[in-house]
Amino acid sequence: MPNDHEPALTPLWTSQEIAVRVTLIAEEIDRDYSDTAPVLIGALKGAFIFLADLMRKIQTPVEVEFMRVSSYESGTESSGEVQVDWGPTGDAIGGRHIIVVEDIIDTGITTTAVVEYLKQFAPSSIRICTLLDRPERRIVEIEPDYTGFNFSDYFVVGYGLDLDQKYRQLPGIHGLATNT
Ligand code: PRP
Repeated sequence: MPNDHEPALTPLWTSQEIAVRVTLIAEEIDRDYSDTAPVLIGALKGAFIFLADLMRKIQTPVEVEFMRVSSYESGTESSGEVQVDWGPTGDAIGGRHIIVVEDIIDTGITTTAVVEYLKQFAPSSIRICTLLDRPERRIVEIEPDYTGFNFSDYFVVGYGLDLDQKYRQLPGIHGLATNT
């Protein structure tokens, strides 16, 4: 139960609703990559649950790599600065078809930094898959190729998404009302 220290959470998508959407995205990816094995690049930490579920629904052979990118300062506001702590190099992704897997695209700053980082290793193609898209918050122009849900009005937690590292374990996605 919420108390003075814990914000109220508004349920937005249940784990069942997420699973249906994840399956549909996997089917799209299967259609698009029927004759080539793409490399999924998970942007940690937030994408790890989505990536794990998505990967198990994709029938096409895929490989997986991870990147550690930090963009948010404490709380619900982005710092506007992104740091790539580590990620795959040319051995893993050079000449390969890449799908960047994000939990959320908000300002677009993080995903743009991920794409720029990956480009230096000359992959054959880069597409972007995000479970959540909040396009009205965009600062950097970037358009995902695969999207689970569009939304506005909320800072979201659960299914891998956090507030100050909490709530990632919630099976569904919940909103925190915010004026930003
Ligand atoms: C979150 C999320 C995205 C990014 C999106 O990461 O996972 O990578 O913010 O925001 P943007 O479009 O405004 O850049 P965060 O930095 O919170 O780290 P986390 O994945 O470890 O939770």
